[in-house]
Amino acid sequence: MDKLPSLSSRQRLLIGGAGGVLVIGLIVVIALIASSRSDAASEQPIAFNHQIHAQNDIQCQFCHYGVNQSPSAVIPSVEKCMGCHEFVATDNPEVRKIAEYWADEEPIPWVRVNEQPDFVYFNHHSHVAAGVSCGSCHGDVANMSVAEPVVNMNMGFCLDCHAEQENKDALYDCVVCHR
Ligand code: HEC
Ligand code: HEC
Ligand code: HEC
Ligand code: HEC
Ligand code: HEC
Repeated sequence: MDKLPSLSSRQRLLIGGAGGVLVIGLIVVIALIASSRSDAASEQPIAFNHQIHAQNDIQCQFCHYGVNQSPSAVIPSVEKCMGCHEFVATDNPEVRKIAEYWADEEPIPWVRVNEQPDFVYFNHHSHVAAGVSCGSCHGDVANMSVAEPVVNMNMGFCLDCHAEQENKDALYDCVVCHR
């Protein structure tokens, strides 16, 4: 919280009036939820390798098709994997695990890597449509064997980039990200 943004005139009015209580209330509630979460282990059920797939020219959007249309990027389904792995590298022990999930009609229980707390609203589609690259938030995933969170996506990180945008004031409003 060392980088609290300068407040818009609307927020100053709010803090000056009875709304100040609401803003402080929001901060307390968010801080309480924030202090209660824990980090998940990053051991994946199948050793999925981004680099190998990128080297085979498979685009990010082919698997994470949500980036073109929705808040969530989407983690691909077992069916999506089987579209290739019914034929490709079928002897590989990690690939055999995919076929087992498919036969059992079970989803692969991927462990989430970048998870924002529930009190933060984020939308892939609006960033991708505005021309923000995957790499500015996720690093060079195409060269990672294991997807790892190399960027610390805290509030200061989000605000630093929003500060460079033309509609900076609108993008600084607390309710843009805390709805
Ligand atoms: C063949 C499908 C496929 C392709 C292509 C692919 N991914 Fe993924 N991606 C996955 C799967 C499966 C996971 C979940 C397992 C993991 O975290 O490694 C994942 C996880 C991720 C995560 C972590 C998600 C989380 O839990 O927060 C990021 C970030 C990501 N991919 C970005 C990318 C980028 C950027 C590209 C293009 C360079 C890309 N992916 C290409 C299948 C794919
Ligand atoms: C568009 C085709 C395509 C899709 C979809 C795809 N893969 Fe692959 N996958 C490949 C290719 C090509 C290779 C490299 C095979 C080789 O080099 O023998 C590969 C290799 C692999 C390997 C072996 C990697 C190694 O260490 O040798 C695993 C495991 C794997 N994929 C998992 C997945 C999973 C899980 C999904 C679904 C999230 C998926 N793949 C979706 C094409 C695909
Ligand atoms: C402005 C920053 C930013 C950009 C740009 C961005 N992401 Fe993300 N990504 C995030 C955040 C934040 C999360 C966690 C979202 C959550 O927990 O609600 C995330 C989560 C993910 C996930 C996990 C599934 C999900 O949607 O929660 C995948 C996969 C992913 N991103 C892939 C991509 C790909 C591929 C691109 C480029 C096409 C991309 N991201 C661009 C910030 C970004
Ligand atoms: C590298 C630059 C960059 C970073 C980092 C970034 N944003 Fe943004 N953000 C943008 C741009 C550009 C827009 C679109 C502005 C527009 O369309 O007017 C935007 C718009 C938004 C919007 C409003 C659009 C909508 O979908 O409601 C939200 C919410 C948002 N960002 C949340 C976040 C969060 C949360 C983070 C951090 C996890 C983040 N952003 C990080 C550049 C960034
Ligand atoms: C561009 C998006 C964005 C905007 C605008 C924003 N926040 Fe946040 N905020 C975040 C993110 C992302 C986190 C989660 C940080 C983390 O996980 O470390 C967060 C966390 C917090 C927390 C929890 C404390 C903590 O360190 O985890 C508080 C309190 C908070 N925000 C208050 C505010 C207030 C008040 C405003 C308006 C002055 C505001 N935020 C504007 C993105 C934003």
